[in-house]
Amino acid sequence: MEEQDWVYSDVVKDHFLNPRNYLMGDESKFDYDAVGLVGNPICGDQMRMYIKVVGGVITDVRWKTYGCASAIASTSALSELAKGKTLDEALKIDAKMIDDYLGKLPKHKFHCSVLGHDALRDAIEKYRTKK
Ligand code: FES
Repeated sequence: MEEQDWVYSDVVKDHFLNPRNYLMGDESKFDYDAVGLVGNPICGDQMRMYIKVVGGVITDVRWKTYGCASAIASTSALSELAKGKTLDEALKIDAKMIDDYLGKLPKHKFHCSVLGHDALRDAIEKYRTKK
């Protein structure tokens, strides 16, 4: 493995140290319409993603995780990308888009970006099935 493979971009560091839309406290503090929950089979980490939907648009997002620094940075970025998008648009956000937004994760941490992404998909699916 090359030394460069361990370098975090400034954007990754900023989102890890200042995570956007992180749910502080318990979930009763956020008025959400659906919650997605996934675990990462590679490392065992977990992610919960809460969405508020108005007129088919994700107006707000919160999340919690037991994940690593890369998962925290990735989900912070994802939460920014998802806000203001329709459900269909949000489903098109993929791990590569998150990776590009962050200025690239170290290659061996790319799988961490999938955690939030899958939790968002799960939340959207649950939202649609309860309607
Ligand atoms: S090592 Fe588990 S999400 Fe990154």
